[in-house]
Amino acid sequence: MSVASTLASEMDRAQLYGLFHQGKDYGADARRIRDLLLSHGVDRGRILEGACGTGSYLEPLAKHYQVLGFDADPQMVQAACARLPRAQIWEGDLRHFEVSPPVHATLMLFGALCYLSLPEVKLAAQCMHRALRPGGLALVEPWVGPQEFVGGEPHMAVIDLSELKVVRQVVTRREGSLAHVDFHYLVAQTGTQVQHLVDANTLHLHPRDELLKAVLAAGFALESQVDGLMAGSPLWVLRASESPSMGGSSHDGV
Ligand SMILES: C[S@@+](CC[C@H](N)C(=O)[O-])C[C@H]1O[C@@H](n2cnc3c(N)ncnc32)[C@H](O)[C@@H]1O
Repeated sequence: MSVASTLASEMDRAQLYGLFHQGKDYGADARRIRDLLLSHGVDRGRILEGACGTGSYLEPLAKHYQVLGFDADPQMVQAACARLPRAQIWEGDLRHFEVSPPVHATLMLFGALCYLSLPEVKLAAQCMHRALRPGGLALVEPWVGPQEFVGGEPHMAVIDLSELKVVRQVVTRREGSLAHVDFHYLVAQTGTQVQHLVDANTLHLHPRDELLKAVLAAGFALESQVDGLMAGSPLWVLRASESPSMGGSSHDGV
């Protein structure tokens, strides 16, 4: 996202997300995803990304596939729609999504499932299974587990452009198996008051084996495990069983 060209008088979450992830090489990541899909037999067709954010993975993948995506945050959805005007992008929840006709592959990247508790992960995996054609592929990249996350550390990132200065600070906090990552932004733009925004995130620290088990229970087999797009994370390549998902309705309670 070109921040300078998209500035509103008040920045929203999607703009801030784009600003602080502009150094992330989504193009290189998308090439790795494409290679993985190809090596597992998905050379064309429909690809769905859950928690797609501003659509940064979907944009390069749209050269090869019909891409679909959803996100819970309306501002992220709006940004993704602007990036991909011809794609099907909607406001949706990982725990309760449906898509028809089914897709060839689903993507849950950048730790998407860490927003969910384990029972919710099971619901999401059931939705993922139902969203796939029989034998379809799911790529899942988990976030850090309880061993890796310490908490209590301060972090700061700064954007320093001529007409826009943003400081993002966070002191991460751990509460049992939950990680609180509340980003505080101070945004200074030409001709405006300094804006203070808080983006509060509560993330689940799932042990990797428990997370994988919860996903497999929906009717997936682990076909391979490769290095993830994030340093230190694996990426699971899962094949949906040919038979219908063992899960119940996508609208089951948690
Ligand atoms: C770290 S961002 C990743 C976005 C995108 N995949 C990327 O890599 O740029 C995580 C996204 O998950 C979305 N999200 C969190 N909980 C969700 C839920 N229950 N259902 C759908 N999206 C969710 C957030 O709104 C956010 O856009």
